Amino acid sequence: MTRVSILGGSGYGGGELLRLLLGHPHAEIGQVTSRRLAGKPIARAHPNLRGRTDLRFADPDDLDPCNLLFLALPHGAASERWDELEPLAERFVDLSADFRLDDAERYAAHYGPHPRPELLETFVYGLAEANRDAIRGAARVAAGGCNATVSILALLPLYEAGLVDPSRTVLDVKGGASEGGAEVDTGSHHPVRRGVVRPYRPTGHRHAAEIGQMLRRVVPEGSDVRVHMSVTAVELVRGAALLAHAFPTDVVTERDLWKVYRARYGGEPFVRLVAERSGPYRFPEPKLLAGTNYCDVGFEVDPEGGRIVVAAAIDNLMKGSAGQAVQAMNLMMGWDETAGLGFSGLHPC
Ligand SMILES: NC(=O)c1ccc[n+]([C@@H]2O[C@H](COP(=O)([O-])OP(=O)(O)OC[C@H]3O[C@@H](n4cnc5c(N)ncnc54)[C@H](OP(=O)(O)O)[C@@H]3O)[C@@H](O)[C@H]2O)c1
Repeated sequence: MTRVSILGGSGYGGGELLRLLLGHPHAEIGQVTSRRLAGKPIARAHPNLRGRTDLRFADPDDLDPCNLLFLALPHGAASERWDELEPLAERFVDLSADFRLDDAERYAAHYGPHPRPELLETFVYGLAEANRDAIRGAARVAAGGCNATVSILALLPLYEAGLVDPSRTVLDVKGGASEGGAEVDTGSHHPVRRGVVRPYRPTGHRHAAEIGQMLRRVVPEGSDVRVHMSVTAVELVRGAALLAHAFPTDVVTERDLWKVYRARYGGEPFVRLVAERSGPYRFPEPKLLAGTNYCDVGFEVDPEGGRIVVAAAIDNLMKGSAGQAVQAMNLMMGWDETAGLGFSGLHPC
């Protein structure tokens, strides 16, 4: 068995990693850290795992070496303490935004100066459907952001096929409350958050940087790639739901789109095309994806406006974070890519 530990195991991403790793056929959990709950049973933070493990949280300063270390820390924490972390594992999967961008200038434009810019080129972007060959055998992986993941998966086939103007796509994402993590703040307090449909980042969402990075890789060099992204906080616990508005460079029919999307995603274990033409489930719905590693994708052509609308949904904590990270681990280790990720969701729920 491969010994795998989690730094930042009391948070939402860490909790999902634990749930997945407890059912994983090849990974054995070494340590799971929490500063607040060091010495306490795992179920203190993750009551869904009651009775599933005797593990207790370890203090982050007491981490022993392991084969693979998941980093599930708030933004900035991993890069700041990288020199302490590096000797602890042969392989790393980071869930934060610290190492997702390959360009220090672009990072600085969105997040401010990177404390260790030389590390950026040592990580590969962790979204398997967009970067599988690089993840296979990699030692350091940066899992993609949740809103970026759903957006990249929705748009990749269109950009790869050169069907749309790469500079004009509008991304309208609705995100659930767990996107903000387990730390409580004034925006997540129940009376404030309940019932919201609150524009969270109408412009300037940081995930636009990684979406641009990944789309730029699949279009002709020098293309003007710009995504215009808005994120709205809605009353969901889990889920990121996207409507992408893309503008074709030529006349496109839904039949054309089916060909392109089927060819691109037909062999992908975790991307499902939504084919229903009637009824309530004819577009992706995040509720159905809770706890699963799927991204559901559907689309419709607006003939009047010359517009393609792509709808996509994920569970932000799964395909948008821990599930994607486990999928990447499976590739890094040469295991079956789907190992530990078989849950197919609940209906109704
Ligand atoms: N939530 C999402 O939907 C989502 C999706 C994609 C990516 N991400 C990214 O994944 C990372 C984790 O997100 P999350 O939602 O799991 O956050 P979270 O719920 O706030 O959890 C953060 C974890 O880090 C620990 N921690 C905080 N500061 C630390 C420090 N200085 N040293 C050691 N441990 C520390 C916390 O535990 P203690 O305080 O108990 O030590 C906790 O276990 C973030 O970078 C986030 O941006 C999140």
